Amino acid sequence: MKVSLLKDSIADVSEDCIAVSVFQDEKTLSGAAAKVDGSLGGTIASLIKQGEIKGKLGETTVVHTMGKLLSDRVIVVGLGERSKFNVEAARFAAGSLVSKARALGVKGVASALLGVGVKGVTAELCAQAMTEGAILGAYSFDKYKKPEETAIESFSLVEDRKAAVSQVEKGLKKGEILAHAQNLARDLANEPSNNMTPTILAERAKEIAKKFGMKIDILSEKDAEKEGMGAFLGVARGTDEPAKFIVMRYRPSDKNVLALVGKGITFDSGGISIKSSQGMGAMKADMSGAAAVLGAMRAIAQLKPKIGVIGVMPATENMPSGHALKPGDVVKSLSGKTIEIISTDAEGRLALADAISYAKKLGAKRIVDIATLTGACFVALGEITSGLISNDDRLADLLLDVSEKTGEKMWRLPTFDEYDEQIKSDIADMKNSGGRAAGTITAGMFLKRFVGDTSWAHIDIAGKEYSEKAKGYQQKGTTGVGARSLAELALRLSRR
Ligand code: BES
Ligand code: MN
Ligand code: ZN
Repeated sequence: MKVSLLKDSIADVSEDCIAVSVFQDEKTLSGAAAKVDGSLGGTIASLIKQGEIKGKLGETTVVHTMGKLLSDRVIVVGLGERSKFNVEAARFAAGSLVSKARALGVKGVASALLGVGVKGVTAELCAQAMTEGAILGAYSFDKYKKPEETAIESFSLVEDRKAAVSQVEKGLKKGEILAHAQNLARDLANEPSNNMTPTILAERAKEIAKKFGMKIDILSEKDAEKEGMGAFLGVARGTDEPAKFIVMRYRPSDKNVLALVGKGITFDSGGISIKSSQGMGAMKADMSGAAAVLGAMRAIAQLKPKIGVIGVMPATENMPSGHALKPGDVVKSLSGKTIEIISTDAEGRLALADAISYAKKLGAKRIVDIATLTGACFVALGEITSGLISNDDRLADLLLDVSEKTGEKMWRLPTFDEYDEQIKSDIADMKNSGGRAAGTITAGMFLKRFVGDTSWAHIDIAGKEYSEKAKGYQQKGTTGVGARSLAELALRLSRR
């Protein structure tokens, strides 16, 4: 789907379908909706009066123009309550609009800037959010079967006010890059594990690095052994698929370095502490952290923030076998610290521990890791909100602010010293599981031990990497969560 700017007045546009918006519980129309309704002779206003159009966020109502406009159809999109309007509402509404248009079999959509000017949503921010929502809403993973619906070919943002045009162009460009980053992350994570092995993930990373001018190193198991990555290699012992430790570099000579670390378990069976078979297939997406980092790295290479960024993605399967790590074993991590294995299913933190140590070795000033780390995070925060853990209030606050803009909700959890007790081991420096209580926090406490005094934040996306249903710009399947927020974080740090 191509997104472009159309310099025209919405009521004069000739397209398969045009779109305007209404707020909830508002009887009087304004802006683009008022213009279009003028040509329609008041149809939209009377549908509101009759209660058919309520204006709830994401509601779509199709009005046939019967020759009163050059376009055949108008989709009226609900924006929810005016007082709650923000960029995420614009993104969500654009996603709903595109889904509806696709279900109708429409090829071209031209939309007014939905809600522009309300609650501080400028033309630039509105255009960016709508572009993101439209591209994300048009996504489908149809590599292995014919798509059920025909694809939309073009989506236009309609604006004729001279002052707003350049703003819209800017927002549109940024939105395209960020949405395609998220769709890349979705593509990687939707891919079944037989076609997304560590080797294939590394190949994809190589292609992206080459195309967008980034440096890349792919450490083999032998290289990782020479480095001393005993924790990461412990996870890799059970599988026949060769593990890959992927390191991508943007602006490699910059002194100010942000490291993005993504868990890349391409399939998590649990290993010897094997998971129950029910729902195990979902663990093909246990590399969603790495997918988010890869998506973000590509966006960063396009948006060019003035900061060095390294993407570190430890990639391996977690499988049981005669060679596999066993409960009770002790491994020695890259940091030198020893870890007693309580559960081989707590493998993500093992891979991340060595990845964090490696990022520090490469001179990272800040580290942000992202991972489908704990089932406890899904229990606590559901499909909606990611868990945030940090040793740096400024970095945590910055991420929370970014998350408000990207709509990728995050909530900070505590790191009180008392929680550290739960991962003390009798025979090693620590153990890899703190038990059932506060599982997300103790996983964070484990990582914190490898971070030292480097500024760090950890984002647990478990349960957020997959959506059970389509809604707004979300599709059923993997979500690509985190890619936009990580890229936006790099942009924010660049301005400081
Ligand atoms: N990949 C899982 C966590 C997960 C669960 C992600 C559900 C997405 C959806 C992780 O490797 C895991 O198995 N964690 C264990 C840790 C426990 C053994 C300490 C868990 O959460 O049960
Ligand atoms: Mn696991
Ligand atoms: Zn896992």
